[in-house]
Amino acid sequence: MKHQLGWSLIAACGVAALAFSAGTSYAATGAELAQKNGCIACHSVDKKVLGPAFKDVSKKYKGNADAVAMLSKKIKDGSTGVWGPIPMPPNGPRVSDADIKVLAEYVLATN
Ligand code: HEC
Repeated sequence: MKHQLGWSLIAACGVAALAFSAGTSYAATGAELAQKNGCIACHSVDKKVLGPAFKDVSKKYKGNADAVAMLSKKIKDGSTGVWGPIPMPPNGPRVSDADIKVLAEYVLATN
């Protein structure tokens, strides 16, 4: 998928939300959660922002059966040292475990 995201964060948010609400309801839910929970302040689907592009994350863990559980834990507790020097702060318990699982599945489905 080639969405022209990213000249500005604001534009990227809007375009991503639009692009994904036009897809399956499953993807829309993940995109909505990413927007609602502020993930898109640091991530976009296909461009590195502060954190890695979700597509790159998806590529990296393709075929990894534990990826949903592993990434859920990272999203919840934070992550450091995988993609560079900038750490991701914890997103739980602000974001519920159920929503985090949907987000992990969404990220892994972006590629
Ligand atoms: C303050 C900025 C920021 C926010 C907000 C943020 N992230 Fe991150 N995220 C990062 C950075 C930076 C990394 C890379 C961390 C590393 O190198 O280990 C990252 C890494 C990740 C990874 C990959 C972890 C790995 O082990 O490969 C996933 C998946 C992810 N974020 C999802 C999310 C989701 C979903 C949300 C919203 C609930 C979110 N992020 C919110 C900055 C952020």
